[in-house]
Amino acid sequence: MRFFVGLLLGVAGHAVAASGPGLPTVSFEPSNDGGAWLLANLDKIVVNEAFSEARDEDGMTLIPPTLYEFASTFAQDLAEVLKHDAGVEVSSSPTPGQVYLTIDADIPFLDAAGRQTSEGYLLEATEDGITITGASPLGVWWGTRTLIQQLVLNDGAISHGSIKDSPGWGERGMMLDVARHWYPPEFLVEMCSYMSFFKQNVFHIHLSDNLYNNVAIYSYERQMSLYSAFRLLSDNPELDGLATRKNESYTRQVWDDMQSKCAARGVTLLPEIEAPGHALPITQWRPEIGLTTDYSLLNISHPDTIPTMKTIWKTFLPWFKSKTVHIGADEYRDPSLDDLALAGEYTHFCNELSEFITEESGKHVRLWGTFPPSKDGDVSRNVSVQHWAVFEATAVEDWLNNGYRLLNSWDAVYVVGKWNLWYGPEISLDFLFHGAPGGKPFSPHIFDSRNETANAPRNHEAIFGHIAPLWNDYGPNATTVLEAYYAWRDAIPVLADQQWGGEATEEDYARMFPVLHAKAPAQNLDRKVETKTATIMDLDFAKGRVCGGRFQDMSGNDYHINTNCANSAEGLIVEPGCEAATPLESKGRNYTLSFGIKPLSDSKGPIFTGKDSALWYGNGTVDRVMMFSGESVYALNYTFPVGEWTQATLRAEGKRTYLDVEGGDSMEFLTIIGWNGNRFVWEKMAFEAPIAKIGGGGFEGIISGMKLTDTDLVEAAETRRSRLAL
Ligand SMILES: *[C@@H]1O[C@H](CO)[C@@H](O)[C@H](O)[C@H]1NC(C)=O
Ligand SMILES: *[C@@H]1O[C@H](CO)[C@@H](O)[C@H](O)[C@H]1NC(C)=O
Ligand SMILES: *[C@@H]1O[C@H](CO)[C@@H](O)[C@H](O)[C@H]1NC(C)=O
Ligand SMILES: *[C@@H]1O[C@H](CO)[C@@H](O)[C@H](O)[C@H]1NC(C)=O
Ligand SMILES: *[C@@H]1O[C@H](CO)[C@@H](O)[C@H](O)[C@H]1NC(C)=O
Ligand SMILES: *[C@@H]1O[C@H](CO)[C@@H](O)[C@H](O)[C@H]1NC(C)=O
Ligand SMILES: *[C@@H]1O[C@H](CO)[C@@H](O)[C@H](O)[C@H]1NC(C)=O
Ligand SMILES: *[C@@H]1O[C@H](CO)[C@@H](O)[C@H](O)[C@H]1NC(C)=O
Repeated sequence: MRFFVGLLLGVAGHAVAASGPGLPTVSFEPSNDGGAWLLANLDKIVVNEAFSEARDEDGMTLIPPTLYEFASTFAQDLAEVLKHDAGVEVSSSPTPGQVYLTIDADIPFLDAAGRQTSEGYLLEATEDGITITGASPLGVWWGTRTLIQQLVLNDGAISHGSIKDSPGWGERGMMLDVARHWYPPEFLVEMCSYMSFFKQNVFHIHLSDNLYNNVAIYSYERQMSLYSAFRLLSDNPELDGLATRKNESYTRQVWDDMQSKCAARGVTLLPEIEAPGHALPITQWRPEIGLTTDYSLLNISHPDTIPTMKTIWKTFLPWFKSKTVHIGADEYRDPSLDDLALAGEYTHFCNELSEFITEESGKHVRLWGTFPPSKDGDVSRNVSVQHWAVFEATAVEDWLNNGYRLLNSWDAVYVVGKWNLWYGPEISLDFLFHGAPGGKPFSPHIFDSRNETANAPRNHEAIFGHIAPLWNDYGPNATTVLEAYYAWRDAIPVLADQQWGGEATEEDYARMFPVLHAKAPAQNLDRKVETKTATIMDLDFAKGRVCGGRFQDMSGNDYHINTNCANSAEGLIVEPGCEAATPLESKGRNYTLSFGIKPLSDSKGPIFTGKDSALWYGNGTVDRVMMFSGESVYALNYTFPVGEWTQATLRAEGKRTYLDVEGGDSMEFLTIIGWNGNRFVWEKMAFEAPIAKIGGGGFEGIISGMKLTDTDLVEAAETRRSRLAL
């Protein structure tokens, strides 16, 4: 066990311990006895009876879990991550040697501006056991994240000592553009779990938008059919036709479920409905309220515009269990007019909606920083501003100095799915570690990498957090769902540390990230599959049929396959009306999926289908081998010949996916990204292996066998062997 402890002088003048272990980093004060508490001795988590039904009322959510509920989730995590079962009990006093969860609202837990926060906690490890004392149940929850991280990093032990910890900023998280790319609800919930392990507490969901409306070349008809989406599907008849992608929308029930699952882990979904810009999903439904010069912009002076937006908000406000909602209000400029021509109408629109939403629901309103006072804007100081680009406004002079409360979303941490001229496809770790002036780490009060005067003091009381967005400018076919996770995967633990107020070094990170990442609870975003060896599944359909339509997996993992398809000496006979089901769903990077295939006709349909992807033998329109991800298709310039055997391997290597056929070249699955309707860029695609079933559609042919291999494990085994040989 190693702890890195030292004293530094914090910016606000408080003495704070230097970065300790964990992401976020924590300051650990060791006790003198040199002992340690061992998870092996834990039987129960004891919740202080006086607070078991207490809830944090100060956080962002309107559905905060009780202390008892957080304790139960913590117990589930211990079972999942550390394979340790412990019961949850309510009692008025701690039990020796056990974990005790309690609350003390009188302990000062301060944020970066020196204010009390309900998210602080004190974790004490002594020979009497562990006590986590939170400022609120939410504080206790973050304390349980620290405890799990310590146990994961230190083989189930934590040294005797104490950690007093609180976040520097109240809103810490990510934003996902679910408008220009569909994300299934389970994905958002898994992301909440991942974020929560690193103490992020807000997931901002950008619910409506459209691809760039290039009015220089688009006709009215093209604008009306350009990809756009409004992702909330209500049964209010007044909104009939607004959410057109019905099977790619969140219903009330789905939205409720996501909100409560995220809230159970301390993460609040913060919804954004974007207007008056980026509003094609609204004007495609009600063209009369769009500007004829650019239908992605609402015509605010049209008498139906504000009432329509109020109807939308009135419908969805009861859905939203966050204290803040986001009205968008980004980039409202008519290309045929002067840049600032619409600033007055913009201000009017924002203030009308803000007043309406607050009166209707008591909720606070947020918007993207667009027209500051220096650019003729005069939005009410009741709203909070999400600042992103220097070309829109400066954080300090335009917003803070004018009395606005500010959330930092400086576009230095913007990412755009897969490809963009200006923004990277993933958050840059180099920026996070060195993005502040002098090459120092990034922090929520930093808005400029070089110019110190453009940055605010760390303890500025109007800066309340940081959110890093991912935009899908190039639409649904530029990326898969899980590529959004990979754009953030490595950075979230560092960014979450900085949002919390820590300063993890590159060395801390390199040491802790692989260990913590592998143990983040309640998600399997890497789509790992349990396996005894590098071979995950190995089936020979030509022989080995066991009774009752079940094929034996020879990998040793017992991933047997059930089927109602016939088989012959050649293999599994796939035809419409039959399929073969595995007990698995999907396998993430890296893998090979090898199979022998002989199509019996040119009838199109799925060969392999999984939770995240599918491999098709043509789709009815096109006669080529293709991958499906959601509704997007990625075809090769190749197909399997009818009546002939082909040995093929679907191969994932990091960000790329290939199909290798015996005796042929390896072919890569690519996307062509349509860039504003007039430029095209070819880009790589990373697909998970589709392994839930074989057939089940129109495809007719024989599959001789299938073998799924975890190629990272093959590589690890080879490295071990070559070390042994030395
Ligand atoms: C969703 O609906 C569209 C037609 O509206 C259909 O083409 C598509 O296959 C459906 N997708 C799923 C996943 O059901
Ligand atoms: C906006 O709406 C007003 C009022 O209906 C109308 O007079 C005006 O022409 C519209 N402007 C544009 C650019 O569509
Ligand atoms: C701002 O808040 C004040 C006080 O609550 C209220 O009277 C006013 O209507 C609000 N204005 C807007 C635009 O929300
Ligand atoms: C630095 O930032 C300040 C405050 O925004 C601004 O007034 C000044 O012009 C900037 N200096 C440079 C060199 O960009
Ligand atoms: C079939 O794939 C092609 C691209 O290769 C695509 O343009 C077409 O829309 C797809 N058709 C269906 C029904 O998915
Ligand atoms: C298919 O062939 C076309 C024309 O040669 C080429 O531009 C394209 O890159 C190929 N597509 C893939 C996925 O290799
Ligand atoms: C997969 O392969 C890529 C490239 O070969 C490698 O960089 C990566 O570490 C491997 N593992 C994962 C989980 O991506
Ligand atoms: C992706 O969609 C764009 C339109 O936004 C289109 O131009 C492009 O051909 C599509 N790519 C693929 C691989 O279908």
